[in-house]
Amino acid sequence: MDIQTEKILILDFGSQTTQLIARRIREQKVYCEVHPYYLSLEKIKAMTPKGIVLSGGPRSVYDEDAPKSDPDIFNLGIPVLGICYGAQLMTMQSGGEVEKAQKREFGKAELVIKNSEGLFAGLDPEGANQVWMSHGDRIEELPAGFMVSAVSEHSPNAAIRHRDKPLVGVQFHPEVAHTLIGSDVLRNFVFGMCHCRPRWTMQSFVDSNIAAIREKVGRDQVICALSGGVDSSVVAALIHRAIGSQLTCIYVDNGLMRTGETESVMRFFREKTGLNVIQVDARDEFLNQLTGVSDPEKKRKIIGHGFIRIFEREAGKIKDARYLAQGTLYPDVIESVSFVGDTVIKSHHNVGGLPEIMKLDLIEPLRDLFKDEVRLLGLELGLPEEAVYRQPFPGPGLAIRIIGEITPQRLEVVRQADAIVLEEMKRAGLYRQTWQSFAVLLPIQTVGVMGDERTYEHVVALRCVDSLDAMTADWSRLPYDLLGRMSNRIINEVRGVNRVVFDISSKPPGTIEWE
Ligand code: XMP
Repeated sequence: MDIQTEKILILDFGSQTTQLIARRIREQKVYCEVHPYYLSLEKIKAMTPKGIVLSGGPRSVYDEDAPKSDPDIFNLGIPVLGICYGAQLMTMQSGGEVEKAQKREFGKAELVIKNSEGLFAGLDPEGANQVWMSHGDRIEELPAGFMVSAVSEHSPNAAIRHRDKPLVGVQFHPEVAHTLIGSDVLRNFVFGMCHCRPRWTMQSFVDSNIAAIREKVGRDQVICALSGGVDSSVVAALIHRAIGSQLTCIYVDNGLMRTGETESVMRFFREKTGLNVIQVDARDEFLNQLTGVSDPEKKRKIIGHGFIRIFEREAGKIKDARYLAQGTLYPDVIESVSFVGDTVIKSHHNVGGLPEIMKLDLIEPLRDLFKDEVRLLGLELGLPEEAVYRQPFPGPGLAIRIIGEITPQRLEVVRQADAIVLEEMKRAGLYRQTWQSFAVLLPIQTVGVMGDERTYEHVVALRCVDSLDAMTADWSRLPYDLLGRMSNRIINEVRGVNRVVFDISSKPPGTIEWE
């Protein structure tokens, strides 16, 4: 069974929350894909979507360079849901009018339902139907054939629908958590209007992917870089389930891992899964190359190149390797529309350059998944919760958490501090809900007093952030006593540290890692 035959197509007009729309629809067990707004009508038709969602966006429909999709999508007979900008575009392209509202409507609003068919089926018209608005323009005049289905204080046309065609639009954002009726609205769209069936489950994903991987690989060999992180672990587990011993994983210990990390990854995969893993001890090779290097970008480049060199060397020993498996996720492949230029802030190291160098074909079974879906897939494949809910850890490892030069002593300090942070976060029950929590070793010394002695030792910074996707992040509001415990323990237990500080910067303007 091809579980992707029933899909919803989301056209992206540049909203910050386009990906959220996709996630919310998939939570209903319906498959969907995000594409740029300019996708041609031919391509849209060829995809045979069961429904189309037009996302929000930062522009005004009357702007000279306003993004516009082909207006003929409204005549395909396929249900279309316009959200915010998408609803305004639907209005304008159907002959109605959109205007700058007197007041911007931003934040919570109460929706009064006027027509309970379509999007609002099953909802209580008298109920407290809280929605989240974020718009400057609003629909003023309805196009011919449309009617109002809900109003809010500042939006007389907060939701509209066509009388005969399956076209609906909402000024509010059903995809955000503050819209309490959001999942009802999306559910009504995908099931009630688009007649999708809830088929997109992890079990069905595993079944169809195992078949596809077997067919693609045949009798060839696959190699995979295993880091112990969620994505590569799930890829390895999935492919291993499909082709068993035709998969070989390569784990490179670069000497920049955390306490006990290499051991636990090896133990799990070798003992619990029977996966074929080659463990490469490249600690000295990396540390020698990093000696005397303080510049963050140089560190990243050395580590990235070192990884490729070693991986190539080891992979070259595997006979008949034809495929390289990678844990590329959906957010990496979505061609989202961005109205701001892309600048490289940090050169993130991944194995992206490998396939061209090594002339290997790629297998990327997670290309369609969001991070939370990868976690569910990991559980479905029997990975333990501690592997599946592991916080992200950067490819360059502890190297970018030691500001300045990397030495074995400084690595040891940051390892010990890091172990304390993770232990305390877990003990407080906050590890999972925090995106990342870690220690950073700073290249400065400060004066302290221990016993009756003057000390002049190093500073450790705690970095704990909440985030959904690492694109933006805010510092976690951790309880004071937890912060106090982490600080006490680090100062008492880690030799060479006499001060702990807590980083209260958000991203932007800060980044999550310090380098
Ligand atoms: P920043 O520091 O840019 O990090 O806010 C965003 C997320 O990416 C992780 N990170 C990396 N991951 N290779 C990786 O695989 C890298 O070079 C790298 N640098 C940062 C970081 O931990 C955070 O989750």
